[in-house]
Amino acid sequence: MTDPALDAEALRERAVASLITARDRTTLLTSCVDGPDLTAQHSPLMSPLVWDLAHIGNQEEQWLLRAVAGQEAIRPEIDTLYDAFEHPRAERPKLPLLPPEEARRYAADVRGRALDVLETAAFHGTRLTEAGFAFGMIAQHEQQHDETMLITHQLRRGPQALTAPDPEPVPLFTGPAEVLVPGGPFTMGTSDEPWALDNERPAHRREVAPFRIDTTPVTNAAYRAFIEDGGYDEPRWWTAEGWAHVRRNSLTAPLFWRRDGRQWLRRRFGVTEVVPPDEPVLHVCWYEADAYARWAGRRLPTEAEWEKAARYDPAGDRSMRYPWGDADPGPGHANLGQRHLRPAPAGSYPAGESPLGVRQLIGDVWEWTASDFLPYPGFRAFPYKEYSEVFFGPEHKVLRGGSFAVDPVACRGTFRNWDLPVRRQIFSGFRTARSEEV
Ligand code: AVJ
Ligand code: FE
Repeated sequence: MTDPALDAEALRERAVASLITARDRTTLLTSCVDGPDLTAQHSPLMSPLVWDLAHIGNQEEQWLLRAVAGQEAIRPEIDTLYDAFEHPRAERPKLPLLPPEEARRYAADVRGRALDVLETAAFHGTRLTEAGFAFGMIAQHEQQHDETMLITHQLRRGPQALTAPDPEPVPLFTGPAEVLVPGGPFTMGTSDEPWALDNERPAHRREVAPFRIDTTPVTNAAYRAFIEDGGYDEPRWWTAEGWAHVRRNSLTAPLFWRRDGRQWLRRRFGVTEVVPPDEPVLHVCWYEADAYARWAGRRLPTEAEWEKAARYDPAGDRSMRYPWGDADPGPGHANLGQRHLRPAPAGSYPAGESPLGVRQLIGDVWEWTASDFLPYPGFRAFPYKEYSEVFFGPEHKVLRGGSFAVDPVACRGTFRNWDLPVRRQIFSGFRTARSEEV
């Protein structure tokens, strides 16, 4: 038996560290451009950066100061401004938002008090405090908005504001193109990961037929072959809705790509560059991923297939936290945490591969799956219905694995993301699969 008191102290330290890491990133993302760029709306799909900043503080105030510690509201009148459900993103710039300096002060004030609460808070007793769940949830929430804000930076026009070192170059990946995942039941989801969010719970058995899955995400070079084969002009590769969508919007390539004579260029955080052939394709919508897979004679993996490929260890006949085992992600396992501002070349991170040999399941690009976002059997909304429950249904598709923009605290083998099938400003790519004939 592990000592729960020791576990609580380790989790408390992890909570402090995760909150601080998140705030360092938030600070960078909201200080590398000046006032007008913080209050402007760079895309109708996104909030002004200054909204994210105060929303981060407001969620922290609501959950850590009010719900956990029972404190009074600091500024009750602003709750409605930062409620994502009251105001769609497109309307947020017209709201009387806190100006940048005030938003910074508010978020910092909340943070100071939250760290005081965290020092002595019980890590047991209620579901919200058990294992420091609320603190883990708030650290993940801020990191999710750090990814959202990075998307806003990518959409922003104007000179470069962010830089980061490139991932290590690797030799061209020459391993097997696909891996066989054996059929049979496996454990999907989790009941014991302390900070797993409601939609990842509970653990349950899932039967999966044998299938083959790509060893790495689909690369720009492979995707370009689809474009150059006339993939965007050929209705037979697309679902009816997908075809209507590409026609209506004249899509011809991933978002941010532009043809320049015989080469393809892309804009990435304010810089135009040649599309790197070996990098996982980025900024494709579900319809594009699905059409590519059909063109390739394959299909998208289901969410259960993806998770089995990512977590199943045939040697122990069990599901692990990550493809490489149960250890938290380190820099050798995966491209996470906005350490780099791009995916790493296909075949990177051999230390992060799964027991079956699948690479880059965690980090680099979110991977579209074939599946709708639905609750697991036994799902219970916690701590609020608006995190997951209101999004369940066939209109949202599941993405798995996390991108280079996701922090380790908000990324696990069980973590579920979702979006509309038309969205491609997100850091989305995919890999393909096929059923194994038996
Ligand atoms: C899980 C990324 C779909 O950004 O809409 C942030 C995360 N929820 N604040 C989103 C979230 C509430 C969510 N996604
Ligand atoms: Fe939020």
